[in-house]
Amino acid sequence: MKVAIFASGTGSNAEALIRAAAEKELGGEVALVLSDKRDAKVLEKAKAHGVPAYAFVPKTFASKAEYEAEVVRLLEASHVQLVVLAGYMRLVGPTLLDAYEGRIVNIHPSLLPEFPGLDAVGQALEAGVKQTGVTVHYVDAGMDTGPVIAQEAVEIHDEETCESLTAKIQRVEHVLYPRCVKQLLEDVRGSQ
Ligand code: GRF
Repeated sequence: MKVAIFASGTGSNAEALIRAAAEKELGGEVALVLSDKRDAKVLEKAKAHGVPAYAFVPKTFASKAEYEAEVVRLLEASHVQLVVLAGYMRLVGPTLLDAYEGRIVNIHPSLLPEFPGLDAVGQALEAGVKQTGVTVHYVDAGMDTGPVIAQEAVEIHDEETCESLTAKIQRVEHVLYPRCVKQLLEDVRGSQ
């Protein structure tokens, strides 16, 4: 079983998934990491682990459909069965959604449907809530709107800062996401 990870930034979740795969805890292999940003740190992390890393910059394509068609060609050529978004800062369009229907997932740092979109951690602190969390969900055409696969709550203390809350959330993400991807790969395998 092969997964592709899409990420635009640091790649701590990508690294957690790559490590889980290397330790045979993912039930599959990370075939490639793809970023929409040439200078994303995640590309270096992938290469350091020996995982093929690609940067496809959307604005160098004539349209979003052409960008995604090229992405789909790469995924199919690499025999990818599941697409795992990990900090991929872009809405997925119909070309990719149709090619990988029901096989694209995302992780978001809140208990969706609360605090979708950018800066979910800041939104939670601003709202003054006592708990937030992490959601793994299927990807549809909306922003953080697809069906929920798993959620885990994280408590917010009175003295919480953006940094401390982000760190707590990421600790949860790095365990929850590999666990979910493992289950999803079992599901894909069972449906074949
Ligand atoms: C994570 O918090 C994830 O929930 C969100 O983007 C962040 C990516 O962080 N979608 P990283 O690049 O994996 O460190």
